Amino acid sequence: MSHARVEAAMTPTGRLGAAPNIRAVASLQTPDWVRHPRLIEWVGAIAALVRPDQVLWCDGSQEEYDRLCEQMVAAGTLRRLDPVKRPGSFLALSDPTDVARVEDRTFICSEKRDDAGPTNNWVDPQEMRATMQQLFDGCMRGRTMYVVPFSMGPIGSHIAHIGIEITDSPYVAASMRIMTRMGRAVFDVLGEDGGFVPCVHSVGKPLAPGETDVPWPCNPTKYIVHYPETREIWSFGSGYGGNALLGKKCFALRIASNMGRQGVQAGGIGWLAEHMLILGVTSPEGKKYHVAAAFPSACGKTNFAMLVPPKGFEGWRVTTIGDDIAWIKPHSDGRLYAINPEAGFFGVAPGTSEKTNPNCLATLRENTIFTNVALTDDGDVWWEGLSEPPAHLIDWQGRDWTPADGKAGRKAAHPNSRFTVSIAQCPSIDPHWDSVDGVPIDAFIFGGRRSTTVPLVTEARDWVEGVYMAATMGSETTAAAAGQQGVVRRDPFAMLPFCGYHMADYFAHWLDLGHRLKAGGATLPKIFCVNWFRTDEQGRFVWPGFGENMRVLEWMLGRIEGRAGGIEHVFGTSPRHEDLNWNGLDFGAADYATITSIDRAAWQKEFDLHAELFEKLAARLPKALSLTKAELEKRLAA
Ligand code: GTP
Ligand code: SPV
Ligand code: MN
Repeated sequence: MSHARVEAAMTPTGRLGAAPNIRAVASLQTPDWVRHPRLIEWVGAIAALVRPDQVLWCDGSQEEYDRLCEQMVAAGTLRRLDPVKRPGSFLALSDPTDVARVEDRTFICSEKRDDAGPTNNWVDPQEMRATMQQLFDGCMRGRTMYVVPFSMGPIGSHIAHIGIEITDSPYVAASMRIMTRMGRAVFDVLGEDGGFVPCVHSVGKPLAPGETDVPWPCNPTKYIVHYPETREIWSFGSGYGGNALLGKKCFALRIASNMGRQGVQAGGIGWLAEHMLILGVTSPEGKKYHVAAAFPSACGKTNFAMLVPPKGFEGWRVTTIGDDIAWIKPHSDGRLYAINPEAGFFGVAPGTSEKTNPNCLATLRENTIFTNVALTDDGDVWWEGLSEPPAHLIDWQGRDWTPADGKAGRKAAHPNSRFTVSIAQCPSIDPHWDSVDGVPIDAFIFGGRRSTTVPLVTEARDWVEGVYMAATMGSETTAAAAGQQGVVRRDPFAMLPFCGYHMADYFAHWLDLGHRLKAGGATLPKIFCVNWFRTDEQGRFVWPGFGENMRVLEWMLGRIEGRAGGIEHVFGTSPRHEDLNWNGLDFGAADYATITSIDRAAWQKEFDLHAELFEKLAARLPKALSLTKAELEKRLAA
């Protein structure tokens, strides 16, 4: 193990509890393959606090997964789908109040408020620990406490980091086996004193003796809590997605973004934890590039990562390395290499079809846990956008549904309904997806969901301008987070809900990294901004998107190779109609103009929104960004 550091983290008080009176709660039943005294002591301390009926150390075996699923079927949490139509697959319907990440209940509890920054919720860690102590006291009564060992990144690799999630949700334990490298091998890597990030999760619904459980236990009070200095995660009240699968947003983004930057404070160059897909793209001549793209939640990462080149792009191939998270590290050759720390997809179901994302649909053929989609009469799943609606369904809340309900605006699948499936089932999987060194990144792409203003694609003139564009990116909110949808908000780097420290320090980290790599003689990845989502007067998307996004991707590669043309404007360089390859698609210059035009008045308003963000971050905002803003505004006025 490379990380000698043993996280200090333990009970909500930040101390290892006194030797736990385990007999009063449940036997720890520590298996002999766990040989880590500090870890065992921590599990004991948590058990003493949360008081489960029993403790189960997950070994990650298929047998264990099958058993968990059977138990959940018996409890009504899962429903087994038709074994012929959807082998090895299940449907979970959540509590209707527990359907998405809860950003307003997510906290970065750094020692100093300023280190969390104005875009994160902050509570003093002492105060938060007291709150957690109360909430977790006895919160697993009547339940099984699962100890889930997981590795983000290949087990045993120098780039991987290990977490242990304690949870009272079998749904979470089973999902973690799909989403991460989970199981006994993790304990082997940890040995007797390896470092790990302790993650404590409870649905927050203890059972009184004899009380029958509900299919989806949760608690109206929710807390998603991070202590960045001690690298701990505490999550209470939700069983859904990023709130509960703590390896994902909590660890691989909020805690890992801190780790990446702490690498600089320790004298290194540091690294990046990003909300990015990673893909490989190979030309008909066999030349391969890799790009990493940050789009906000439910804005097209999974689709882009599995892109099938359209008609006219025969011989091109896109391969998938990751669809949500990238850990990006400088390599000795001066380039940035990216790995996907996850091992599965937790992707948005609605909109996924044979037309929009055939690779994804093929991935979901078997061994998939679906959550909050609709159930067909023949025991299969359905969601909006999959196909013509069947005559009858059971909707995501368990009610009858017919197309008439759909016409009346009632969705059969929740807009944030999702699938959990192993990346290994993806037909477009890249042969290097699991490589310890990752893949070298040639370009970064940033893209929001904007019905107006932002053109189809722009190449930044340099790293600083690219960082500026990413930092000021706006996007319309989606169902991935609880709250209002469709309102434009600034979502810097698609990391607004996921950056575990001060957003301005994060900008500085990106700028510094670029600066240092360049000083070392490296060619930095190009930075592009895209927007697939401009609409016409009827509110329809003008750009066909999905596979057709290949045309934009190919232009980017042409820019990297210095052969593709474009026109320089206020924000950088964009392709003219004639600079894109239109083989196989009829998309005229007039349509093209509607998705590439730059409206000066709209951009003046846009700059006001950039200014608002920068004012909020003023105390720590890198000067280079305010200078870039002034530069761009001058160009716009000219
Ligand atoms: P998270 O998992 O929440 O981080 O989201 P994601 O970025 O992976 O989103 P995903 O790819 O699952 O896309 C979500 C929605 O965007 C789906 O409904 C898609 O149909 C839609 N979408 C994806 N790509 C495109 C595109 O090119 N054009 C249009 N119009 N919609 C798209
Ligand atoms: C997102 O919201 O960006 C997701 C889904 O990828 S969740 O895991 O719930 O965060
Ligand atoms: Mn995401």
